[in-house]
Amino acid sequence: MIPPDGRRPVLLVAGGCGGLVGRAVLEEFSGDHAIRSVHRHEAPGESAAGVRWIRSDVADVEDWAPLLDGVDVVLTLAWYRQGSARRFRRLASGLVGLIAAAEHAGVGRFAHVSVPDAPEAMERRLPYLAFKRTVDRALASSRLAYTIVRPSMLFGAGDKLLTVMLRTMARYRRFPMFGQGDYHVSPLAARDLARILRRESARGARNVVDAGGPERWVYRTLTDRMFGALGLPPRYVPLSAANSVRLAAVLEALGSSRLYAYEVEWLLSDRLGVPAYPGLPGPLEPVEPFLRQQATGLRGGTGSPGG
Ligand SMILES: NC(=O)c1ccc[n+]([C@@H]2O[C@H](COP(=O)([O-])OP(=O)(O)OC[C@H]3O[C@@H](n4cnc5c(N)ncnc54)[C@H](OP(=O)(O)O)[C@@H]3O)[C@@H](O)[C@H]2O)c1
Repeated sequence: MIPPDGRRPVLLVAGGCGGLVGRAVLEEFSGDHAIRSVHRHEAPGESAAGVRWIRSDVADVEDWAPLLDGVDVVLTLAWYRQGSARRFRRLASGLVGLIAAAEHAGVGRFAHVSVPDAPEAMERRLPYLAFKRTVDRALASSRLAYTIVRPSMLFGAGDKLLTVMLRTMARYRRFPMFGQGDYHVSPLAARDLARILRRESARGARNVVDAGGPERWVYRTLTDRMFGALGLPPRYVPLSAANSVRLAAVLEALGSSRLYAYEVEWLLSDRLGVPAYPGLPGPLEPVEPFLRQQATGLRGGTGSPGG
């Protein structure tokens, strides 16, 4: 959104530019936006890009008004991958407070990153989802020119899903297969999500957009390709759907953050094969070159293993 007086638009990011999506947002927006960024831990790329860091938990901001002064676009990225209901409730209430303050301040555009639909029982039971929907609803019932973008599984350097899966395959030379592996995923590049956020926030169409990558994969075909990228034959440890969720729950109980039980349940529910996002000027980035590059890094070649 270009301000009428021709100055650089100001973007306020709640959740900052240090996470997977935030790093891509920094790359996409820092060239032509002044960025303010509210988050807790230092994000190395931000100071080099001239970002103003407001060191705070989103839940602890008592008065958003000074941070919103002169802001053209607000973008919310802050969320946890796992946590207690209390933790999600606090963060959701901070984000709802930001929505109310943005409405009060008359902010021109508001973009929020949410998640695709999950089975009804998960939507009700999981704090991760239930509180995300609290934020989604607060925004949809505001008078703001909003967009809620709901991406599928994201990939990019340092991601916690595909890169971790590749690493596990490279290390153990086998991988658990959850159920039949016949459900779908449509990985989207974090860089493409940043381009989508730019396009959708400029439109300010008061809409909800699901965003998948260019290809809707059968999960098992994708994992076969991942083994292929590593130069390994696909070898699986077959698990029934119920045992897959149990295994993830045990790992979770042991303190692992590799995989959470709800993520396996969501995958098995076949809701993550979100259709490709239409409307960007260039094509969406396919996942295979990324996998090959990461795999080369893991095999000791020149590609980067991505953190
Ligand atoms: N990754 C995916 O595959 C995926 C798929 C669909 C949707 N999403 C959504 O995309 C958004 C970004 O995800 P991501 O993968 O980039 O996550 P991420 O890498 O974990 O980054 C999350 C960012 O939020 C900040 N943050 C977390 N809690 C905060 C709090 N209480 N106050 C202030 N900042 C906070 C963190 O910075 P500090 O630690 O410095 O505070 C971090 O920079 C999330 O809303 C997520 O639900 C992600």
